[in-house]
Amino acid sequence: MADTKKSQHGEWSSRFAFILAATGSAVGLGNIWKFPYITGENGGGAFVIVYLLCVLLIGIPIMMAETLLGRRSRQNPISTMITLSDEAGADKNWHYLGWMGVTAGFLILSYYSVIAGWASAYVVKAFSGSFLGADASSIKVLFDDFVGSPIKLLFWHTLFMLATMLIVVRGVNTGLEKAVRFLMPSLFVLLMLMVAYAMTFDEYYDKGIKFLFTPDFSKITADGVLTAMGHAFFTLSLGMGAIMVYGSYLPKDVSIAKTVYWIAGTDTVVALLAGIAIFPIVFANGLEPAAGPGLIFQTLPIAFGNMTGGWLFGILFFVMLVFAALSSSISLIEPAVAWLIENKNMSREQACIWSGSVTWLMGFGVVFSFNIWSELKIFDRTIFQLLDYLTANLMLPIGGFCIAVFAGWIMKQQHTEQELNMPNPLGYQIWKILISYVSPAAVFLVFLHVVGVL
Ligand code: TRP
Repeated sequence: MADTKKSQHGEWSSRFAFILAATGSAVGLGNIWKFPYITGENGGGAFVIVYLLCVLLIGIPIMMAETLLGRRSRQNPISTMITLSDEAGADKNWHYLGWMGVTAGFLILSYYSVIAGWASAYVVKAFSGSFLGADASSIKVLFDDFVGSPIKLLFWHTLFMLATMLIVVRGVNTGLEKAVRFLMPSLFVLLMLMVAYAMTFDEYYDKGIKFLFTPDFSKITADGVLTAMGHAFFTLSLGMGAIMVYGSYLPKDVSIAKTVYWIAGTDTVVALLAGIAIFPIVFANGLEPAAGPGLIFQTLPIAFGNMTGGWLFGILFFVMLVFAALSSSISLIEPAVAWLIENKNMSREQACIWSGSVTWLMGFGVVFSFNIWSELKIFDRTIFQLLDYLTANLMLPIGGFCIAVFAGWIMKQQHTEQELNMPNPLGYQIWKILISYVSPAAVFLVFLHVVGVL
């Protein structure tokens, strides 16, 4: 069946187009905004090692599984789970996995868009020269003022959601391919430049590198391990069907394994570069690594305010960040949009308006959690923190666990083997062991560790 099926939403024009889109989905705020601040909050090196191990042993095998599931069924995640469990003669209940994914996408986008709104606002701040000659304290005032204003945050959140919807309306594989093609490489170059700037801090550069790469396992808690694992899912866009949907637009002769190595490799390098660029600035200015979600907004502007050419680089950097966020946000909503089109008989426009409005409204709660509702705690967390924890630390790993079990135990070996079509039989064997045993067991053990059983 895989031979004849095509997605009703079209196909990527090539393997390269898929790589670009999936890399666009993976590389985003997770790498540049989230990775540095959660690394700072969790003590550095040990956290980074756990994260890297999770990418290798859990992320990469599951990314291959998600891609192959999507390509085999060529439908949205919910219908994919129905079709493939049918094919394997398994229980229909597997489609709840698709539902959880679509829900997780909505929840993530409702805060992702708010933070992407911050990045958009910082384009304008960079342009107007707000960072010039700034020091740590003036940049902090700027940030606190901004985040304290619900109106400003709502404005930028709205703008970002509109931009996302505009791209999704055009169809992910036409609207996006072109933009990502040159934005990804440019972002990469700018990050290298920031790293070069960080190197001028000499001893603080060394301190930053040491913080990131010298593990001190006494600094990481059980919850820190969970955060590292959750982030491996988050940063690779796994566990909710985003990569499944992108896989469903993938031409059938493309090698899934090679493609996935590329995407995961690039994603990891970008995150590490962001960390290397940011921590020297943190230490050189006596800032707190555990400053939380504001970390990059309180550090990078100091660099732009004081380096040669900083005005221009500042603008470029935040523009790239917004585009990186856009190429991720569209993958958060595409599963829902694809489902509405395929099952509710909606046009792409209608599907976008529906799903976009719901996410936009949910974003209000996130916006207020940074100012007027900052004291409102549910399970000891603000709305933003709760959504982040619920999705990245719980829903994505649970989704990933189920995907691994499905690909490793429920699908027929002959089918996964045929989809992956690896030239070297040993490669398939290794994947099969990882996906059937290692990845699900690792997720399970981390959960046991958090609830205190281990
Ligand atoms: N990976 C993106 C980032 O790092 C965020 C993202 C996009 C995502 N699509 C996703 C996270 C699907 C989880 C699931 O910024």
